[in-house]
Amino acid sequence: MHSYTLLIQHAAQVLTLAGGPTDRPLAGPDLAGWTIIEWGYVACVDDKIVAVGPMDELDLARISPETRLIDATGCVVMPGLVECHTHLVFGGNRAHEFERKLRGESYLDILASGGGILSTVRATRAASEAELLENALHHLAGFQAYGVTTVEAKSGYGLDRDTELRLVRVARQAGRQQPVRVVPTFLGAHVVPPEFKAAGPQAYVDFILREVLSDLKGEAAYVDIFCEQGAFPLDVSRYYLEQAHKMGFGLKIHAEQLHDLGGCEMAAALGATSVDHCDYLTPAAARRIAQQTQGQTVAVLLPLVPLFLRQSQYAPGREFIDNGLPVALSTDFNPGSCPSKNLWLALSVACLKMGFTPKEAVAAATLNAAWAIGHAADCGSLAPGKRADLLVLNVGSVAEIPYWLGENPVREVVIGGL
Ligand code: NIG
Ligand code: FE
Repeated sequence: MHSYTLLIQHAAQVLTLAGGPTDRPLAGPDLAGWTIIEWGYVACVDDKIVAVGPMDELDLARISPETRLIDATGCVVMPGLVECHTHLVFGGNRAHEFERKLRGESYLDILASGGGILSTVRATRAASEAELLENALHHLAGFQAYGVTTVEAKSGYGLDRDTELRLVRVARQAGRQQPVRVVPTFLGAHVVPPEFKAAGPQAYVDFILREVLSDLKGEAAYVDIFCEQGAFPLDVSRYYLEQAHKMGFGLKIHAEQLHDLGGCEMAAALGATSVDHCDYLTPAAARRIAQQTQGQTVAVLLPLVPLFLRQSQYAPGREFIDNGLPVALSTDFNPGSCPSKNLWLALSVACLKMGFTPKEAVAAATLNAAWAIGHAADCGSLAPGKRADLLVLNVGSVAEIPYWLGENPVREVVIGGL
């Protein structure tokens, strides 16, 4: 037997996220049904977890002089956070619009005036590839400091062929240049670019389907679309996702963020891996989605977005959970609706405004977030065989995690065993 290369021991609590079903995301009571080991350890060999258990079951024979020991006395040990919805790569920022928003302008009003997403599109098109990469690396370092070990990264601020492909390329390159794993998603259908303003949303998605998607095979596993007033209507969104699915892409959607257009149910019926935002998704529709998809589609909830957009409507997470819909949590990190990488804060706001319990919130930002990006086989829980992505936190129990509002509880971040 190989001796351990890393042993994290004496943890007050090991949040395993294990013990539930392994063939689908956690839903209903399973979201909080996973195992916590008191006074436990996690052992790794190279980049993989090999054993997790209580201290009195630790195999002392596998500790050698080469084993790196981390003493986690008084600490929580848990899997690295999984950020399943971000817009990582962009140019500029929107601090100027923050002031407009504080004066009372709405998100869609700012977009309709040519600002919002379109202002970031202008800044992104003007940026060099090297600048975009430098920004992305800066943000990934920030995520890592918060204990995020996997980050989904959407394109969507190019809205032309070359810039969109550049954004996916930059995301992949950023993933190779530092330890946090980056999972790119293609969001070329974010809004209709100025060049297609006259021709309209259908003409723009036809262009993407015809001229862009074939170059993304193997570069991005998922396509995403923003189904909303001022972005893409339901029928165009359906057509786009159907066609992309035929080309072999997994599906995601931004839907029910500001209005109930039926985008989540539509995408779920097409087999979407996730439906994201869901602030206006009703509990009844959530129940139908859970039943129709047999619990395979994850609703990704983004509690910092209504907070930052000064909206009172938050996704009814409690009802979603009680109706059996699997839920995940993410920041939605982007320059417009959430310029924060603090996923811990998102967990706190999910408890305070969406009715999550601390245990549910942790599961939603680890294992279920991994399901939402198709990576549950290799991250999101502390199970033998998974990648050694682990956190040691400066708190002693799971309840403390969302309690210390706005703090970063991370003491140590391990990615791939290092
Ligand atoms: O997920 N809602 C659409 N897209 C992003 C925001 C993008 C932006 O405002 O730059 C979101 O909230
Ligand atoms: Fe988003």
